[in-house]
Amino acid sequence: MAGKGSGYGKTILFGEHFVVYGVPALASAIGDATTCIVESVEGMGYELNDDRPEVPGYKEKKFEEQEVSIKNVLDFMGINLEEKALRITFGGDLVCASGVGASAASCVSLARAINEEFSLGWDDEKINDAAYEGEKGYHGTPSGIDNTASTFGGLVYFIKNLEGGPNTIETVKLKKPIELVIASSGMTANTAVVVGDVRKKKEENPEWFDGVVKEYLEVIKEGRQALENMDLERVGHLMNKNHELLQQITVSNNVLDKMVQLARDNGAQGAKLTGTGRGGNIIALTPSSELQDKVFNALKDAGYPAWKTLIGV
Ligand code: MEV
Repeated sequence: MAGKGSGYGKTILFGEHFVVYGVPALASAIGDATTCIVESVEGMGYELNDDRPEVPGYKEKKFEEQEVSIKNVLDFMGINLEEKALRITFGGDLVCASGVGASAASCVSLARAINEEFSLGWDDEKINDAAYEGEKGYHGTPSGIDNTASTFGGLVYFIKNLEGGPNTIETVKLKKPIELVIASSGMTANTAVVVGDVRKKKEENPEWFDGVVKEYLEVIKEGRQALENMDLERVGHLMNKNHELLQQITVSNNVLDKMVQLARDNGAQGAKLTGTGRGGNIIALTPSSELQDKVFNALKDAGYPAWKTLIGV
């Protein structure tokens, strides 16, 4: 017997970090996914085979966090490893890197595989809750946006409920899919550390932070409308603005700034870091497959691993 599951990778179009404080953000699942196979075996505990492709060093850096995450998911799903043993094998085509929701995708795939192996009958909402517990292994205060995009797929408008009630999750439909390029800085960031630093800055200077959030609220409001109206020039402009705000809260770095500039210089309508920052990935809005190829090649030729994807599929 074996249970199987998968979870999409994701990219945040607007609102990483700000989303932690209860303001809206917009994320999109990407086509690449992490898969998981769970097999019941003799004994106690679990054996882990992690066959996911990665940017060098990612899996080693995240190993301890991954262990906590797996334990959290198993505990939440009522699996007691003092009574049984599992072989857990991760795979799939999502290249693990900071910024693509690799941790969330693995949590979702694991929860789905456990659900199947033990015939628990959990629906997507409960799978999402289990994956959220797993995400806490990677950082103490996840907003939940990554696991939500990873579980449900598509384009998700998300607001974390800071009171602990249900989060706002709305599906956003596009008139047609839009080409996007994702590129990796090759640097793996620690989400807990970066989120913690931002929180410290916010606490040290709440008025300044409120001012940045106020500017961001305009970005997300207009960004959603512009996407729904397919006003992609505006979307691109707002992505650039979002990147600037992320620079202000100190989560960008020289490499990410160079990469977004390179993407823009090659015709991208907008570009920003995506996810945790201080490493990880950037995204570039490149409507049309010609433009997508051009920006993809420019980033790849400059030595950054890059991927082509579509949002709003
Ligand atoms: C990480 O992909 C996104 C952050 O906003 C953290 C979170 O939302 O939990 C940085």
